[in-house]
Amino acid sequence: MENMKPKIILTGDRPTGKLHVGHYVGSLKRRVELQNSGEFDKIFIMIADAQALTDNADNPAKIRDNIMEVALDYLSVGLDPAKSNIFIQSHVAELTELTFYYMNLVTVSRLQRNPTVKAEIQMRNFEASIPVGFFTYPISQAADITAFQANVIPVGEDQLPMIEQTNEIVRHINRHFNTDILRECKPLLSKVTRLPGIDGQEKMGKSLNNAIYLKDSSEIIKEKIMNMFTDPNHLRVEDPGNVEVNTVFKYLDAFDPDLQELQEWKEHYKKGGLGDMKVKRRLNDIMQQTLEPIRERRLMFEKDKAEVLNMLKKGSESARPIAAETLNKLKEVFTLIY
Ligand code: TRP
Repeated sequence: MENMKPKIILTGDRPTGKLHVGHYVGSLKRRVELQNSGEFDKIFIMIADAQALTDNADNPAKIRDNIMEVALDYLSVGLDPAKSNIFIQSHVAELTELTFYYMNLVTVSRLQRNPTVKAEIQMRNFEASIPVGFFTYPISQAADITAFQANVIPVGEDQLPMIEQTNEIVRHINRHFNTDILRECKPLLSKVTRLPGIDGQEKMGKSLNNAIYLKDSSEIIKEKIMNMFTDPNHLRVEDPGNVEVNTVFKYLDAFDPDLQELQEWKEHYKKGGLGDMKVKRRLNDIMQQTLEPIRERRLMFEKDKAEVLNMLKKGSESARPIAAETLNKLKEVFTLIY
């Protein structure tokens, strides 16, 4: 029966910064493909501002500003509000109410076992004083997913514990109350491995100052590529080089449309005789070609931010009644309808 039900996607991002090329190859590109595949009955893309506040409550202006940045990034890569419902989490108040009821079904020790939250707590030095909202965000994420009856969740590996938590809540309610009001979901992991920062560090990000952003100018992109970390032992052109440690090749793996030629270049580099400058120029040509149309579209949408905001409001308005329906069913189950 499950395969007769509508196929519904929900995914989203915390608006804590503008999006970079790692987001592009890791998730945005795939989302656009899913959107245009015509295989899905409904697609919800959520800007998770409320979740972003769970560890940024003292700096709401940052989240507010980045809602616009993320929305512009979405539109510029080709997410289309006519096909995907793009909305703002905090504008769908029903999600908060759902979260409140789900909280009764999750234990503190269960939350403590969530490896992603654990890692995040460490990274933020929250050990001594974790905001309750942050600690419980996996429950709120379960509300995001279940509210829209989403069954396909395109995410990175770090989000797997959230999907698991969601399905535990779904099964708990459906079994305990012998109902089917909530739907289990599956992750859709992206195939592309994580892009490193331009300095070769595993993670790319704002605080590390090592990211290439979708909105970077062509000059900045070129400068960043020319400064990319290569094989430190590849001193002379004729020396044999190591492809595995070379960031430029990792980016080519993600962006190069001609994988066969890329393979030849790799062999050449390993043998010696292929200079780093030449490889960087190849990457620059390819990335400029990919990113230019995205930047052009962004400039166009930037001219009318009021219209972008309007799009987000409309998206949120049409998302609300769907979440309200799920909330209503849950309230019935909890005998809260008087
Ligand atoms: N936690 C996700 C992130 O950090 C964002 C998010 C919030 C999300 N709610 C979601 C992702 C629901 C998928 C489904 O990127």
